[in-house]
Order: sequence, then C-alpha cells, then structure tokens
Amino acid sequence: MASALAEALIGLTIVTAAAFLASAVPGIHQQPVWPFSWQFTLATVGEDADFRREMLVSVALIAVSVLFMAVGLLLRRFRWMALILLIAAAVWRGPSFGLLIAEAYPTSFLTSPSGFSAGSIARGQTLFARYCVACHGPNGEGNGPAAAALRIRPADLTQPHIWGHTDGEMFWWLTHGIDDPGAGPGGGLVMPGFQAAIPDEGRWALIDYVRAHSAAVSFERDPAFDTPVPAPSGPIACNGLPAAAMSGLHGHAVLAILGATERERLPAGTVVLAVPNEAWSATPPEAGACVATGVAAGDAYAILAGLPPDQATGTTFLIDANGWLRSVRHPGAANDLAAAIRAIQAHPLEQRHGASHEHHY
Ligand code: HEC
Repeated sequence: MASALAEALIGLTIVTAAAFLASAVPGIHQQPVWPFSWQFTLATVGEDADFRREMLVSVALIAVSVLFMAVGLLLRRFRWMALILLIAAAVWRGPSFGLLIAEAYPTSFLTSPSGFSAGSIARGQTLFARYCVACHGPNGEGNGPAAAALRIRPADLTQPHIWGHTDGEMFWWLTHGIDDPGAGPGGGLVMPGFQAAIPDEGRWALIDYVRAHSAAVSFERDPAFDTPVPAPSGPIACNGLPAAAMSGLHGHAVLAILGATERERLPAGTVVLAVPNEAWSATPPEAGACVATGVAAGDAYAILAGLPPDQATGTTFLIDANGWLRSVRHPGAANDLAAAIRAIQAHPLEQRHGASHEHHY
C-alpha cells in the first residue's frame, strides 16, 4: 500500500515536472536534448472525449482526497480514514495519468535549423521522390509500390496526424528509423533510418517538404484549414518597404501570387509579393510591392499549391500579419479576395502552445 502511494506520488511529481519542462521549451538559440523516453502531452486527452472525462474524474477524485488528507492532518481524528481514501484514490485513478504521457526522444525538442526556407522545402521534395515514394507513395498517402508487402502500412503523411509531431520527433524517426512495435526492443524497424544516406540538412528538408505538402493537401480538402503553417522564408526585394526577407513583412497581410503580377484593388495595408516561377530576372517590383528573389521560391510555392510548377501559375496565397499561411487559391477559384484579406487582418493566428503540438520555425 505504502509503496503504491509512494509510486503514485512520484508519478504525479514526474508528470508535473514534465509538464513544466515541456512548457518551458527553450527557444531558437539553445538546442535542448530531452533526457527521458517520455514527455508530457495533452494530445491524447485533447483528441478523445472519453479520455478527457477519465482524466477529469481522476484529477477531481485525487484533489478531493488530498483535501481530506489535509483536513485529517489538522483534525487528527480523520487522518487514518483520509489516508486510506487518498491511497485508494491514487491506486484506482493514478494509472489514468499515463494518458498525459507520450513517447519522446532525445531530439524531440530540437528546433529545425532550416527555418522552413523555400530552398529547404524544394530540396525536401527532391529527396522525397528518391527515398520515400516507394513506401509513402508519390502523393505521400502511404500507398507506394512497396507498401503492399509491408506488415505495417506506411503512414499517410497528408493526414492531420503529422501536425501532432514536433520537427524533432520526425527528425529522430528519419535518422534512426521507426521501431516495429511487434518485434520488441531492438527487434526490427518498420521504417528504415536515413542517417547514413541523407545528411542532417536533408533530413530537416524532408520534414519541411512533408509539412508543406501536407498543408497543400489540407487546404485543398478544407479551405478553412487553420493549423499554423508558416509561409516559406527567404530573401525578398521590396519597393518602398524596408524588408529584405519574409520575416520583414510581419505585421502586414501579404498576398503572394505565383508567376503573375496582375491584381485587383486590395484593402489598405496589404503587401503584394510576386513569386516568379522561374529564377528571378532582376525585374524590380511595383511601388509598395515585393518580389521573392530566392531561386527556390517558385518551387516551394508550387508545392504549397499542390500543383506541378507549370500548372501552378496564378495561384494566390494569403499570409497573415504573424507570418502564417492562411489560404491557397488556385486560379479561377471563386474568390472574394478583399473579404478574405479583411478576415485575416482582423484575426491573425497565434502560435499554439502545448507540448507536442509546438513547432518552432
Ligand atoms: C520501407 C518503407 C518506408 C520508407 C522507405 C519510408 N517510410 Fe516513412 N513510414 C513507413 C511506415 C511503415 C510508417 C508507419 C510506422 C507506424 O505506423 O508506426 C512510416 C511512418 C513515417 C512517419 C511518421 C508519420 C506519423 O504521423 O506517425 C514519417 C514522418 C515518415 N514515415 C516519413 C518518411 C520519409 C520522409 C521518408 C523518406 C526519407 C520515409 N518515411 C521512408 C515506411 C517507410
């Protein structure tokens, strides 16, 4: 009994400590190495109402019995009863705290050094075609030619699921592979690691590509897709604005147009970003507008359009004042651009907080 209580208390302490550590993830300048094989997560209880109820009941019962214990310690008459109640609550409800724990890796909280740059996204596309399509399929849906022969189906990388993983978690899987849960520790891998085949930057680039491609598919399935995905970073040249990179446009609603520059009247404060689909030919932007000057910008935006570069011309992208991509519209799609811009000006997305859902770019 006493050891069960001790265990439950230690468990609680660990969960609290983990919650604290996970919410205090260091920023861009430090690269934390996560020392545990688990981490605090709200994803499980967030996704399932039954789990949420189970968790709330546990927290409530344990809180009530801790309160009783406190009263018992004051009014000594109750203390044995209170202790028994506390132990019973901890033994009965303690295990449900496992719902707050997910597997973690030393790289779980690493920040990608790529900055989600256009160049990295485009490079990831090339690597994906070479190393991943056999299993995950050309569209990333888990249906490549080699998939049928596998006991565990390759993940569908276009499902919302991937946004629940940090870049660091994916980096671990791409580096060391994914264990076969059926094979036991050290048993086998359902997905190989690519540490030897692909350098670090290439593995980070693959993650950027997987996210960009998944965002394209998500916007196509649901135009209101609102997971915070940043616009590709990279150099720009502006006429009349002091910005030399995408980060310099924070604070403005941005309309990016791939391969075309014509535009209608836009609400005040909107910056137009022309994205050439060939390498930039040094044509200066119009007054008040910008042009993406990086060689890979056109390819990265075509990936976000979900179209081959030669068909993506005329696709428009709205980027809000916090730098998040908010809409992707193919040419010819019904489109009240001015209303859409006013909507994102009124409600820019905030970065979400939460352990495993946090992405740093
Ligand atoms: C030999 C087949 C195979 C190859 C090659 C392969 N994968 Fe996988 N991948 C899998 C399988 C199988 C899973 C599912 C594992 C599971 O469900 O536990 C998976 C899972 C993943 C996941 C986790 C998705 C999630 O949400 O859980 C990512 C990310 C991923 N693969 C990316 C890649 C990338 C990028 C490449 C190319 C560098 C690649 N994979 C190459 C078989 C493969």
